[in-house]
Amino acid sequence: MMLLSAAILENPLKQGVRGQKRLYFPAVSAQTMAMTNIDQSSVGKPSIFVTRRWPADAEAALSQYFVPTFNLDDRPLSAAEMAAGFASHDAIAPTVSDKIGADIITAGANGKGRLIANFGVGVNHIDLDAAATAGIAVSNTPGVLTDATADLALTLILMLSRRAGEGERELRAGEWQGWRPTHLMGRALQGKTLGIIGMGRIGKAVAQRAALGFGMKIVFYNRSRIDEISAYPARQLDDVESVCQIADCLSLHCAASADTFHILNAERLAMMRPDAYVINTARGDVIDETALAAALLAKKLGGAGLDVFQGEPVIDPALLAAPNTVLLPHLGSATIETRTAMGLKVVENARAFFAGQPLIDPV
Ligand code: DGY
Repeated sequence: MMLLSAAILENPLKQGVRGQKRLYFPAVSAQTMAMTNIDQSSVGKPSIFVTRRWPADAEAALSQYFVPTFNLDDRPLSAAEMAAGFASHDAIAPTVSDKIGADIITAGANGKGRLIANFGVGVNHIDLDAAATAGIAVSNTPGVLTDATADLALTLILMLSRRAGEGERELRAGEWQGWRPTHLMGRALQGKTLGIIGMGRIGKAVAQRAALGFGMKIVFYNRSRIDEISAYPARQLDDVESVCQIADCLSLHCAASADTFHILNAERLAMMRPDAYVINTARGDVIDETALAAALLAKKLGGAGLDVFQGEPVIDPALLAAPNTVLLPHLGSATIETRTAMGLKVVENARAFFAGQPLIDPV
């Protein structure tokens, strides 16, 4: 196992030569040095450049089958660092916060790089056209983060409808005046309509929780026809507008793409009920955040619960200032179980690829 220190990242070309028994990195810490010995079991294993730290069990699984280089400091890497990393390894394992553009892909393809094994299901941060042109394979981690993300969407729905964020802020600020019948009254979910845009795995898991757990009615928009829902009543509507018009709460679960960019725009926001909530655990790009902040400020919308943002981790100040929002730092898949499972999916895909088998989760 190789561990990448800040000093190495400043000059990725000093990483040493693969195949040597011992790698020497100038200016690395004693702890890192102690872990850079490569034993004989690494010989013949493909190498993989991992852009961010993973849960320990997932890193251990990766190390069993590959010679990984970990970003010891877990800091965001520059494009130049990722390009050098991909060029000098057989695969790169990036995450949603790494923009893998054509420059990095070309550098990888011109070097050793053959596979982008993404740690995450969304791949809008990867230039897929550039990967196809360069003959680089891409995999992702679908399925294992469905429940965690659906749970977080429900967390946002509940936090908004029960004003939990407001209440906690009030209490911590020492401003709670005590129980009274009209204090921070929220709204019940039972009998309300949840509108879902994008009825894939996560959309369905949210619908199931909302319908069976909270007695909500479900309407949804999906590009293709969905006909296998039988466990709870759900109605597919013909267009996004129809869902916007009747939803008490609208939750977005479509993948980010050119087609879904700002799918919730000013016009569609204007069709929504003035007390409706907007929930986004998909990608920031699917909502026009400026229009959303304006609608909230003008009280044309009841509130917004957002886990993803267009320029994350930078948040539009208008959103921060908007009333009735619950804003979370992209926590959808953030459970130890799910993040470990995501890492294991990367391992499975990379193992299949380097064994000459089809990817399990090709993109
Ligand atoms: C993904 O995998 O795309 C998620 O957004 C990470 O939580």
